[in-house]
Amino acid sequence: MKELLDTMQKKQKKKVINNNPIGIFDSGFGGLTVMSAIHKGLPCENLIYFGDTAHIPYGAKSQNIVIKFSTEIASFLVKQQVKLIVIACNTATAFALPFLQKKFNVPIIGVIKPGAKAAVFASKNKKIGVIGTEGTINSKSYTKEINKFAKIKLHQQACPLFVPIVEEGLINSNFTNEIVQKYIQPLLNKKIDTLVLGCTHYTLLKEVIKKNIKEGITLIDSTQIISQEVKNILEEKKLLASKSKPNLKFYVSDNPLKFKKIGSRFFGKKITNIKKIELR
Ligand code: DGL
Repeated sequence: MKELLDTMQKKQKKKVINNNPIGIFDSGFGGLTVMSAIHKGLPCENLIYFGDTAHIPYGAKSQNIVIKFSTEIASFLVKQQVKLIVIACNTATAFALPFLQKKFNVPIIGVIKPGAKAAVFASKNKKIGVIGTEGTINSKSYTKEINKFAKIKLHQQACPLFVPIVEEGLINSNFTNEIVQKYIQPLLNKKIDTLVLGCTHYTLLKEVIKKNIKEGITLIDSTQIISQEVKNILEEKKLLASKSKPNLKFYVSDNPLKFKKIGSRFFGKKITNIKKIELR
């Protein structure tokens, strides 16, 4: 009888862990594209999103400060009992991933490794371009990851104006096209055949970027790849959720109204359930 009760209790506990949420964070809206892909790929999962809107952009900040913000967000997510954390931000991945993995006892993944791997496999002429924030580009994280697979010289370009364009919802403005051209042209001159979108905000500029590159160039957007990676990890750890109606929660560190208005467009669904919280 006691054994039976123990087994039932264990099963119950396991179910609770399986239905615990996945935590996802970014500096602002960009990571919503990752969340949307995870929601589509794993529709039973409970998800918690944190957008650090009080501190955006991360891209021009120093490594220490990005580690500090990322640690505070991860601590908050761990308190919400997340079973996995996805850093849906290239800059925070570049600066803070190894630090967070050491500090916290939950699996934590970033967005750089999957994108780097996909680029190596996609490129035929081994001329790969990467666009990202100043922080991501200066960290040389893509070079390090890509060199684990093959010795390839990367052509990299920081695009500091892209994040404010996305955050302000100015994707379809005329000047956006001009700015995209200005950033992309030096990479096209290097005859790249693969271009990595090394910032989760840039997924939202994909159509404008596509218009400005030649037809044979493959665009790598790690957003989709990450969703598959999350699925693989949860399958491997037997942590897939069984709920049919998942809970989606959103937290921001500032301006929830703006997040609701613009974020819903990026998430592809109306965003409700947004709370502003102060972490520090
Ligand atoms: N979305 C983030 C990234 O992937 C960065 C945006 C920012 O500069 O805050 O790097």
